[in-house]
Amino acid sequence: MKKRVLSGCRASGKLHLGNYLGGIKGMIELQNNPQYETFYMVANAHAITTPYSPKELKEDTIDVIIDYLSAGLDPEKSTLFIQSQVSEHFELAYYFSSIVSIARMQHLPTYKEKVKQYPQNNTMALLNYPVLMAADILVYKANLVPVGIDQEPHLEVAREIARKMNQLYGTNFPEPVRFSTPGEYIPSLKGEGKMSKSVEDSYINLTDSLDEIRKKIRSIPTATISGGPIKGGIKTLFLLAELFLRQTDYQKFKDQYHNGSLKFVTIKDVLAETIYQELKPFQEKRNQIAQNKDYLEKVIKQGAEKARAIASETLKEIKEKMGLM
Ligand code: TYM
Repeated sequence: MKKRVLSGCRASGKLHLGNYLGGIKGMIELQNNPQYETFYMVANAHAITTPYSPKELKEDTIDVIIDYLSAGLDPEKSTLFIQSQVSEHFELAYYFSSIVSIARMQHLPTYKEKVKQYPQNNTMALLNYPVLMAADILVYKANLVPVGIDQEPHLEVAREIARKMNQLYGTNFPEPVRFSTPGEYIPSLKGEGKMSKSVEDSYINLTDSLDEIRKKIRSIPTATISGGPIKGGIKTLFLLAELFLRQTDYQKFKDQYHNGSLKFVTIKDVLAETIYQELKPFQEKRNQIAQNKDYLEKVIKQGAEKARAIASETLKEIKEKMGLM
């Protein structure tokens, strides 16, 4: 039997370079490996764990589907679907919540960060975020989850839930592991922390123009003189250079940095141009797909049907084992 893969992106605004390099690139790689059966969703129900606008959420959800298709996810190879259309995720999350302690959830760094960011929004849904994520994965009994390193604490919770369910109820949930890519951690353009939608000026959107990308890359804080330890904004710059430039160019700029001859604007502009060239085919495809409403509707409908068929099997089994009728 093929191993199952599940992943997703939250529907909370445009996707950025971190989402692409840490998440979507791995999703594409596994989709194109015939050893795996891949399920990729838009986590729209996770988006309501922080303040949001219903109208924008709808648009953002479709936008992520368009992004998936434009980046190379293929509905012939992967099941592409919207989380809220497969209600089994929420049912399983409720059953899982009966074996997870409140204290365990309160100690997660991601929970603490969000509460700090939105003190007025310390809700049950926010606390339950990792439990729903575990249900997203385990409802398909997925073994492998292509996500960035920031999601590791959530995967740890999913493994704990799988273990405990198996012990208590004799289920056979696998303990899902992360599939990582070279871009598993993309730092912020501000030189501190990670690239994140919720931090202004920290990210490059996949739909940014060459001018926008150039402006953003130029804004990475770097010293006026090169040389010395590589940290802060300079570290961000070289990490992006390593991911995008040819190895020989990357090495050349690095040597120049160490011997003090590097002009930051030169490496920044070369990097901006290279990032744009990588995003250009995506952007062109995106413009086409966004027009094709019938196709999008078909993809979404078929995806939900395929996902539901498998998810409902799992629910039947779990209810039976838990003594629910
Ligand atoms: P989200 O929407 O925050 O991010 C989507 C994907 O992008 C990755 N990512 C990054 N990778 C590298 N560097 C960064 N700076 C960076 N920022 C984001 C994330 O790791 C992720 O792969 N909880 C998930 C959504 C989710 C999910 C799931 C994922 C819900 N249920 C089940 C997998 C399986 C999230 O908020 O991702």
